[in-house]
Amino acid sequence: MRVGVIGSGYVGLTTAACLAHLGHEVVAADLDSDRVARLNKGDIPILEEGMPKLVADGLASRRLRFVVGAANAARDAELIFICVATPQGDDGAADLSFVEIAAREIAPVLSPGAVVINKSTMPVGSTRFVQRVLHETAGGQLDRVTVASNPEFLREGQAVRDFLNPDRIVIGCDDPEAAVKVGDLYRSVRAPVIVTDPASAEMIKYASNAFLATKISFINAIANLCEEVDADVREVALGMGYDPRIGFQFLHPGPGYGGSCFPKDTSALLYTAQTHGYDFGLLKGVIDVNRNQYDRTVAKIRSAAGGSFEGRVVGAWGLTFKADTDDMRDSPALHILRQVMAEGATVRAYDPAAGEQAENQLPGVVACQDAYEAANGSDVLAVLTEWDEFRWKDFDRILSSMRSASIVDARNLLDPAALRRRGFKYVGIGR
Ligand code: UGA
Repeated sequence: MRVGVIGSGYVGLTTAACLAHLGHEVVAADLDSDRVARLNKGDIPILEEGMPKLVADGLASRRLRFVVGAANAARDAELIFICVATPQGDDGAADLSFVEIAAREIAPVLSPGAVVINKSTMPVGSTRFVQRVLHETAGGQLDRVTVASNPEFLREGQAVRDFLNPDRIVIGCDDPEAAVKVGDLYRSVRAPVIVTDPASAEMIKYASNAFLATKISFINAIANLCEEVDADVREVALGMGYDPRIGFQFLHPGPGYGGSCFPKDTSALLYTAQTHGYDFGLLKGVIDVNRNQYDRTVAKIRSAAGGSFEGRVVGAWGLTFKADTDDMRDSPALHILRQVMAEGATVRAYDPAAGEQAENQLPGVVACQDAYEAANGSDVLAVLTEWDEFRWKDFDRILSSMRSASIVDARNLLDPAALRRRGFKYVGIGR
């Protein structure tokens, strides 16, 4: 099938590369001409396992190409995915202005019978909104064009795997013929397909992310309580997880959830509830627990530093919002370290993937080339992202290089017994 993809960020690039891999002819657009030029050379701007090979294969087979401008991708396409950003507005609502711009740009060039598909996370009502914008812009000239919602459930770092092996495919569309066309795109993918109305499809996406965020805030709250009652949250999560109704996933306590999805999507869903007069106290609690988790982590680091950050050096391991990505958007590590620096500490930070972003995101930080350099001379070492490499460091070397041997492990990544034996003071989460 001929597919156009509008927006070549995380979601758009994954959609384009994977659909080309599945045998479709894909033209993906972006506004940024440098990005388009890089992508056409197979130079991938994000860290995503399997993506370089998929894009290289797509370019070589000519099933994938990148162009500047939405209209150039939409022209001649049977199906057009809208994958542009939907950032959080000041009021917490999702900002649909990029979606509107994309819809206005493609409306004049859409082929008869084309299906426009909302792939970005968009609030309930967005399918109808895009339909309205397209019709308004085309001034009644649209010939059998339909809009569908087909939300993504991709985790950064494993987006290619998630796209090609989804747990489910959700299609929200009022027109059965168009829904079948969208389903046909995924014919070679084995997964349950849920065809539903647009509002339900849009809600499935928000409810899924909000539920996962709820699990994280729940286990963080339990972890905080475990600290008061001398229980170990890791044992608690293990004992809970064997119940298949609960499961083991998303029960890892930490410094709070971050990234480009959960913080934004939970706020947007809360906003939707507020505008419809529903008091979604539960979701508000989830968001509050998450914000408090940043503050609790700061408090732990402060206490490990002797009660104040003045004149203290904090070594930080990890800046990205989770391991195996180079994404630092809304990263708990950044929220925490900004506060630590504001209170007077010098921060020496190392992250395996953050690269030059570290200094831009945290002005004044001492950006280090490896984990040892970050620990060197510090009073407290804070583990903020669960990169596997941190487990395997030479902790004797670290002990002798630190000014004071204190570790705050905000991801419960390290072995407390082994560290305490060596002479470290160790503080984890909920243990
Ligand atoms: C999330 C969802 O997992 C995807 O299904 C969804 O498609 C995506 O958002 C999206 O809406 O586009 P992602 O943001 O890549 O994916 O990251 P997650 O792996 O879900 O982690 C989110 C945050 O929760 C991270 O900060 C992570 O460290 C934290 N987390 C996760 C925990 O603190 N504990 C856990 O047990 C799991």
